[in-house]
Amino acid sequence: MRLTITPQRELFKRDPMLYGHFLEHFHRQIYGGIFDPGSPLSDEDGFRTDVMEALKKIRTPIIRWPGGCFVSSYNWKKGVGKRVPVFDKSWRVEDPNTFGTDEFVKFCRKLGCEPYICTNAGTGTAEEMSDWIEYCNLATEGEYARMRIENGYPEPHNVRFWSVGNENWGGHELGAKEISEWGRLVRESCKLMQRVDPDASLSAAALVDLDWNVSLLRKCSRWLDWISIHAYWDWIQTDNNLAPYAKCMAYTAELEDDINKVRGLLTAMGLEKKIRIAFDEWNLRGWYHPNIHTVYMGRTPDEYLTPRDDNDINSSYTMADAVFSACFLNTLLRNADIVGMANFSPVVNTRGAIFTHPDGIVLRTTYHVFDMYVSLMGDTVIDSWMQEEESYTVPGRKDEDVTVGLTDCVATVDSATGAIAVSCINKHETDAKEITLELPVSGKVTVTSLIGESADDYNDIGRDSVHPVDNPGAVLEKGENFIRLCLPAHSVNVVRIG
Ligand code: AHR
Repeated sequence: MRLTITPQRELFKRDPMLYGHFLEHFHRQIYGGIFDPGSPLSDEDGFRTDVMEALKKIRTPIIRWPGGCFVSSYNWKKGVGKRVPVFDKSWRVEDPNTFGTDEFVKFCRKLGCEPYICTNAGTGTAEEMSDWIEYCNLATEGEYARMRIENGYPEPHNVRFWSVGNENWGGHELGAKEISEWGRLVRESCKLMQRVDPDASLSAAALVDLDWNVSLLRKCSRWLDWISIHAYWDWIQTDNNLAPYAKCMAYTAELEDDINKVRGLLTAMGLEKKIRIAFDEWNLRGWYHPNIHTVYMGRTPDEYLTPRDDNDINSSYTMADAVFSACFLNTLLRNADIVGMANFSPVVNTRGAIFTHPDGIVLRTTYHVFDMYVSLMGDTVIDSWMQEEESYTVPGRKDEDVTVGLTDCVATVDSATGAIAVSCINKHETDAKEITLELPVSGKVTVTSLIGESADDYNDIGRDSVHPVDNPGAVLEKGENFIRLCLPAHSVNVVRIG
């Protein structure tokens, strides 16, 4: 296989928000995740300092909050000022309600990342959404800015990114909407929100459905900067029957589908230069929460609460998650002209990159993928194309034969230093693969690899076998215009030149 790279042909700069994250009031993402006031590992605001350091290391650019399904019955006004616990009708648990808007913005400012608030378009109203922006972004004018000041925050929070709703298209969502009503609600919400803050960057819940999106965009394109879509490829929300490595590789054949369809619609409507895609929830693995989004509502904790703890089993998150996630990040880079934001769902606990426990954290395999991409890959995508590509067959969703490319590669350049960085992924479960990069080679060549000891390797408390390693042995041969590489089985590799 040969990857021909033309550094002089710069395609586009990627938005750093492609490496964004999502946190929801679900299970241990907030309480016991980022926010643990009783922990000796937490700071004066109750934020876990070990989690914050890990999030800073992967240069978290933006965090979307508070949901997700949770938000579709969330009353933000009860989450500021005097607090009492609230019953979360989405996940059917009592929410302590001690982490609200002020705590979220403070957490993001401490991290140095943008807060992104998803509003309640389920049970909520356009007025409540615009009141939320008043609370966050007006200096002193009106009831809600004054409320923020009385709550101890004299300066505006300046939250730039807002979404109208979360998956309101789906029957699983509280306050779900029909196509016919969604465009009007979004339009009127955006109007009110921008009357408060014309600089608010607005998105709206969408999906890969022509009717939904055409109706939404026809009514709201003038107000929208983004259109939000979500994807989980291993649909294990009700059974936690984790797809094995090979099947996860079959799912990589689907990675481009949703982006292509939404890109096509935006282009057909002449909106591709105005509205970008916010892929603001994505993860290989669907979250495990049985008997909640289903017709049968669990009656006992064992039916619908206790099973959620199984999201915390760290051995679930293997090199399959790492290789798949790297393939998706490559997909985002290849489409960085139309995809401006993506949010790993979630980043802490559940299926996240970081697992918290009372004595510290576990950096799961996917954490190291983000670390490699933000630290080693460049900010500008350059042209490259694969020649003599090899593919192989893996079992698909119904165990049918699916043919996928053996490798997945993207080339970038760092606009500041000129260093070239190429992500080279070998998806094969057992076999190492040779690949030749064809490009001018000047300066130092380094290879950083995430391999693990097997395709099913994982990290856990007291186990850190999966982490990026310098891998000079991957370079078999190099010359003025080529580098011949050996990519280990089931590996994510970043080759840097210069
Ligand atoms: O499984 C978690 C849920 O997935 C999120 O709350 C929602 O946005 C998506 O359907």
